[in-house]
Amino acid sequence: MKIKAVVFDAYGTLFDVYSIQALAEQLYPSQGSNIAVMWREKQIEYTRLITQSDPHNPTGSKYYQPFWELTRLALEYVLDRLKLDRSGNSVEALMQQYAHLTPFAENLEVMRQIRGSGLTTAILSNGSPDMLTAAVLNAGMTDLLDHVISVDRIGLFKTAPESYGLVQASIPVGKEEVLFVSSNAWDALGATWYGFNTLWVNRQNLPYEAIGPRPHFMGADLTKVTDILIGQGRTAA
Ligand code: LAC
Repeated sequence: MKIKAVVFDAYGTLFDVYSIQALAEQLYPSQGSNIAVMWREKQIEYTRLITQSDPHNPTGSKYYQPFWELTRLALEYVLDRLKLDRSGNSVEALMQQYAHLTPFAENLEVMRQIRGSGLTTAILSNGSPDMLTAAVLNAGMTDLLDHVISVDRIGLFKTAPESYGLVQASIPVGKEEVLFVSSNAWDALGATWYGFNTLWVNRQNLPYEAIGPRPHFMGADLTKVTDILIGQGRTAA
């Protein structure tokens, strides 16, 4: 294995999607945790429903809607499902928070080390381009990423193989030269099936998916990337 590019998932991996819980709790006392978990699940469910319903259209899915819109619709659904009032500006407030999610503490240093060792860095995300740009800027990662790739380009969400194919459309590498890093087990599995080397960052100490092959690597946070690269004989800068 000779890694030339490290490609990160965005939401959950670089940016903490559950960091909205505090505001959700403030707006809806005792429901913060429910909202955070159900919001994430519904958001991802919508991406799958859309891509699965029209996966083979060469111009992308005709049901496609940008991730930002799906995120808002998923939130509205969850508030309705929990019978919570959304007539005020709570949806707007939570969406604004989502646009500025807290990045995980170790990320910047790890990304600096990867860049320092001469590898290409990228994000491959379901996120729409504008929300990714804002999140990357807010986290101070703009100069640490060579590519920010959104599935919006083809209108098919992960885990469609075409979405992972966008990496090689942007970076001249073989699948086996990519280390794909995700905290989402389903995403790590999709990328493993696709043929990338994979690291599942198990931030919440969860079991891995019960189906499919195991990821190539597992770690508790992003510093595992540095260990993998050092294991390859690359010295971190
Ligand atoms: C991403 C989300 C789905 O693709 O984690 O960034």
